[in-house]
Amino acid sequence: MFWRRRQPFQSPPYKHVRHIAKMLAEVFAPQTGALCEVWLDGEKAATVEYWKKDIDMDEVKRIREHDNGHGQVFKTGEEPIYGETYLPRKFKMGVTVPGDNSIDIFTHDIGIVVLMDENYVLQGYNILVGGGMGRTHNKEITFPRLADPLGFLEPESLFDAVKAIVAAQRDHGDREVRATARMKYLVQKLGIDGFRDLVRSYMTDGGIALQPWRPMPDWEYRDYLGWHEDGHGTLFYGLLIDNGRVRGPLKKALRQIVDELSPFLVVTPHQNLLLTNIQPEQRRVVEEIFERYGVYRDVDRIDQLVRKAMACPALPLCPLAITEAERVMPEHLERVRAILGKAGIPPSESFVMRMTGCPNGCSRPYMAELALVGSGPNGVYQLWLGGSPHQTRLAWTYADRLPPAELDRTLEPLFVFWKQERKPSESFGDFCDRMGKSTLEQFVAQYNEGNANGQIAAEHPTNAHAADAFEKAKTRGRAEKIPIRPRVSLRPAVHARLRAMAARAGVPLKVLVDEILNNFINSPESESIFGSSIRDGIGTGGATNDKQYP
Ligand code: HEM
Ligand code: SF4
Repeated sequence: MFWRRRQPFQSPPYKHVRHIAKMLAEVFAPQTGALCEVWLDGEKAATVEYWKKDIDMDEVKRIREHDNGHGQVFKTGEEPIYGETYLPRKFKMGVTVPGDNSIDIFTHDIGIVVLMDENYVLQGYNILVGGGMGRTHNKEITFPRLADPLGFLEPESLFDAVKAIVAAQRDHGDREVRATARMKYLVQKLGIDGFRDLVRSYMTDGGIALQPWRPMPDWEYRDYLGWHEDGHGTLFYGLLIDNGRVRGPLKKALRQIVDELSPFLVVTPHQNLLLTNIQPEQRRVVEEIFERYGVYRDVDRIDQLVRKAMACPALPLCPLAITEAERVMPEHLERVRAILGKAGIPPSESFVMRMTGCPNGCSRPYMAELALVGSGPNGVYQLWLGGSPHQTRLAWTYADRLPPAELDRTLEPLFVFWKQERKPSESFGDFCDRMGKSTLEQFVAQYNEGNANGQIAAEHPTNAHAADAFEKAKTRGRAEKIPIRPRVSLRPAVHARLRAMAARAGVPLKVLVDEILNNFINSPESESIFGSSIRDGIGTGGATNDKQYP
């Protein structure tokens, strides 16, 4: 099981990842005091960031100021890279090794993958660009986006290329409309090939160094919880921090561990903590302190649904929040676990669930297999489905405004459907993505209406995918248990007229509609409106369909 795999963090690839991250943090740090003046009352957050001790600051300065003659840097002023205007919007970079997607690499403006050969000789870097989560409700011009592969760089070209990417966004990113100012919109607008050409124009030698993407193993989400050897004789401990909040006894336990053992603390992109640099003989001390405060959790016994979940701070801390997230996530996880149980899914099954209080996407909900994104007051959420267990695929909106009371009625059928139709070991997110929204919707509709005693209706299969799923369901005999009915949407005014006509005629609406449609289809009028081929291959349709709809 990948959760248990040991990760030697002192191995050359991980060490190099950290080195590159520190270098990037310094090369692209703002140089003027303006940022601190505006945001930190003129005070710096820390006099010397700890990582500055590990890198050559002269080298950093040289890289930052190096002018390749292609417009990467400004020759005057204090900010060689940013000039007078900084970037149009926030800019995120992530660095990792092949296979390790603990950083959600597809969500970054720039993702960098360190490639070494089997002898740990650095080969270069695969680069991704144009990822980002933030969107705005009811603004179709905004959307979450997965980063695209830009290409491969040999070691000496990395900073030239990253400076070129930043310069491309600086000069071509949208400064007019804040909602579309992130680099992902520039990449989307130009297409990855167009964006690559733009980046090349800022690189030395026209970007010859940017080579085709090198193949890599599949990505895997890793959380590093529990005890691990770091590869240098010491241990590290990955501590689950539910939704990133340290408080109460957990806070006291951590205080004591830090005071007594001075571990190095690393905050992970999943809002957990790594306590590193722990001697093997100190392992028991750490566990005892956690036990003393009643906060020790055996990672193998934590519900995997909880372990993989993440929520943003939202109310009451975040001024942008529309709904709760962090505070209600535990009860939502319990609720989802209970609904899974009701659907007959065992506790060993889980998936990635994320929650935010607004569409900005701080807990990266659009990468989750199931996400709730605050969309209205009083606990109304969007429901997103279809992300992958390893965060390699974008989810899609299943429902726009799901009130709290609707959650069970929506999730229960989805879980039942997953249980019935999944391929062996197919994850919930993969299943939802394979089925597609309309198939899921029609199952949910007929399940709920079937449960509501005979008020059965399902959407008409609108695509081949849905039709296949229905055929499959029928051949498995599920159609007998949960009858499937076609349904079509009508304009409200037409629906009202038909309803009135049915009432006057004293027949059910479905009988009336059926009669009208059948008569129309078989009439010369249908041919004169839609052409003579309208009835080709559809049969007679039967005269009275009442019997087909028990
Ligand atoms: C508490 C107050 C917070 C505020 C006001 C806030 C604000 C925002 C905004 C406005 C965005 C959208 C950015 C964009 O689309 O360009 C965003 C995105 C994001 N935030 Fe926060 N955030 C907060 C807390 C947090 C926390 C605590 C974390 C992490 C632990 C976090 C992580 C992120 C991430 C990962 C994104 C996605 C960036 C992207 O790719 O678009 N945020 N946040
Ligand atoms: S996603 Fe959450 S933390 Fe981020 S801005 Fe929205 S409510 Fe605030």
